[in-house]
Amino acid sequence: MRIPLFVGNWKMHMTRAEAEELLISLKEKAGNVEGIDVGVCPSFPYLSFATELLVGTNIKVGGQNMAWENSGAFTGEVSPVQLRDSGCSFVILGHSERRHVFGETNEMINKKVKRAVEQGLNVILCVGEKLNEREQGRTEDIVNSQLQAGLKGVDISMIDKITIAYEPVWAIGTGKTATPEMAEDVHAFIRNWFKTEFGKSAADELRIQYGGSVKPENSSQLMAQPDIDGALVGGASLDAESFTQIIFSAAENKQE
Ligand code: 13P
Repeated sequence: MRIPLFVGNWKMHMTRAEAEELLISLKEKAGNVEGIDVGVCPSFPYLSFATELLVGTNIKVGGQNMAWENSGAFTGEVSPVQLRDSGCSFVILGHSERRHVFGETNEMINKKVKRAVEQGLNVILCVGEKLNEREQGRTEDIVNSQLQAGLKGVDISMIDKITIAYEPVWAIGTGKTATPEMAEDVHAFIRNWFKTEFGKSAADELRIQYGGSVKPENSSQLMAQPDIDGALVGGASLDAESFTQIIFSAAENKQE
């Protein structure tokens, strides 16, 4: 049985004081939830701070991005070794803002995925189509090519380190959520893709998060879908109460 995974992607929000308040509140409300995995991804300067604050809880800390090299002359970048050193156990890679605002290609993302796994980090690999791609009926093609290219050279021994987040670009920060049925269709497609590439047991164990305007009001219906195994939450994760409600929406649906 897959353990649902809820991650708060804070993006470029929060000062240190705001981060402290949010983390203390989250620690009280959801610090040791059983049967659900929880993570937060603050901005780089606050990773060590977050790790120290969350000691004694089950909440994991992750990076929002990383470089594909372990060290070197890469001004402005952060390496997987540094993420580990700051207490991170996972990293988000290929987020749509990295792809579409910062021009990351599938090839760059693939190098990052392999480097992260090599360095012992779990990876949340984000995939998802833009609005025009959905309208042209190309959603599966886009997701297929992002999976193919993003996971090129990743073999079965590494697959338990990978989580996929399906984030339709048109649903991110827009208030437009995919309907549970739309999301489920793509999640089922992704699981089937894994079955073909890596076999049934890898596909059965793969966690696929949904992301894109997840809120307490819509999370229960999303989590009721059989192939949705948690959420990657942006805006609503900046409020401890909202994020906690989203986390507990899985308790109703995923834990028998
Ligand atoms: P929102 O929840 O703000 O739409 O952001 C989703 C997201 O991009 C999470 O990575």
